[in-house]
Amino acid sequence: MSDAESIVKYANDKLVAKNLARLPHPYTIGDARAWLKKKQNQYKQKNPTEFVFAIEIENEAVGSIGFNNITVGHKAEMGYWIGRKYWGKGLMTEVVKNASRYAFKVFKLRRLQTYTYPSNKASKRVLEKNNFKFEGVLKKGIRKEDMFFDAHIFAKVS
Ligand SMILES: CC(C)(COP(=O)(O)OP(=O)(O)OC[C@H]1O[C@@H](n2cnc3c(N)ncnc32)[C@H](O)[C@@H]1OP(=O)(O)O)[C@@H](O)C(=O)NCCC(=O)NCCS
Repeated sequence: MSDAESIVKYANDKLVAKNLARLPHPYTIGDARAWLKKKQNQYKQKNPTEFVFAIEIENEAVGSIGFNNITVGHKAEMGYWIGRKYWGKGLMTEVVKNASRYAFKVFKLRRLQTYTYPSNKASKRVLEKNNFKFEGVLKKGIRKEDMFFDAHIFAKVS
């Protein structure tokens, strides 16, 4: 819960929210606390279906990478973001490499998938650099508020 303020500092950014279907904008301290509470409750479950890492730089949570809809022994979905100050330094490429390796091992995954907006070139590049393969387009697969966008789906299998 002590990460809530730094999460707001970095997540309350139009350019971060633009590419994340589930991040409201503006993003408030109440949003951060509710999100952290939800994640804490997941950790109390015997078989959590969600798991998240903070990306920590100089004692601040500057982003996160999370796994949702986890089915142990089969598959999960991945989502991630990092504060604008840290873009373009190769950080998320490294985070996806390490966190996805962890998820494959701990959740015994055979498939890890993620969705991007068609325009999100940086995220697609991060996935390509980590050997995720483009599988296709889900027409109107992303809903953000009352708008629908095509989703590009990428996956890695083992
Ligand atoms: C997408 C995001 C996670 C990338 O994080 P990052 O730490 O900047 O990523 P990296 O530096 O590891 O790699 C980015 C790559 O994209 C490339 N890139 C960035 N902007 C680009 C653009 N407009 N067109 C093409 N390539 C682009 C970079 O050059 C780099 O590739 P390279 O190493 O081959 O040069 C970050 O911008 C972010 O958090 N965005 C907002 C939230 C988001 O989009 N999350 C993902 C949702 S699917």
